[in-house]
Amino acid sequence: MTNDLVARHATVGEIAANLPGATAVFRRFGMDFCCKGNVVLAESARKRGVDLAEVERALSALDGAVDRTAAPAATPALIDHILARYHEIHRRELPELVRLARKVEKVHANRADVPRGLADLLARMTSELVQHMAKEELILFPAMKRQPALPLGAPIACMRHEHDGHGEHLRALEALTNGITLPAGACRTWQALYAGLAKLQDDLMEHIHLENNVLFPRFAGAT
Ligand SMILES: [Fe+2]
Ligand SMILES: [Fe+2]
Repeated sequence: MTNDLVARHATVGEIAANLPGATAVFRRFGMDFCCKGNVVLAESARKRGVDLAEVERALSALDGAVDRTAAPAATPALIDHILARYHEIHRRELPELVRLARKVEKVHANRADVPRGLADLLARMTSELVQHMAKEELILFPAMKRQPALPLGAPIACMRHEHDGHGEHLRALEALTNGITLPAGACRTWQALYAGLAKLQDDLMEHIHLENNVLFPRFAGAT
């Protein structure tokens, strides 16, 4: 499937949606497959400054080799999966990350490498994500379940725009934390915080990918 997809100049988002394990490859090369997934592979590699041939080799190696943590195929089941696996988990985990970040910033305030401003950033992310998810849960997803043929271009464009904002927050988070890399001598709380941030980054990117590249394109006029 890799060669087919690459040969027909599939976008990074399409490859991520159709090739099991591709999202992990894109993450490894630092290529954005969720918010900026609508560009072809060569363009994405060029933008990121990575070797296209190397990315293609890594994708080819995946052929049939990875049992993707499959998202359900049917739309109602896919929506339920997104709600249970991502919305609920974000709601549960984000407040704890804010708490851990406040503690690290306070206890290590005298260190130059403390991620100053991280707790405020996470609090902002939490508030925006909670509002965004409520819109999906109360308006968009019920409409998708009720009328699978309904064109939902306008609300979907709005959600895609908000996803771009989440992507910006992730980039700010990376900048504040040196790419979520622990400094020498980081305490247990700091370690727990960064482990949680890495999971948040993985979850949020996968969450946005499933909506932007798998769910939304099913609705006419969605792109
Ligand atoms: Fe969502
Ligand atoms: Fe969303």
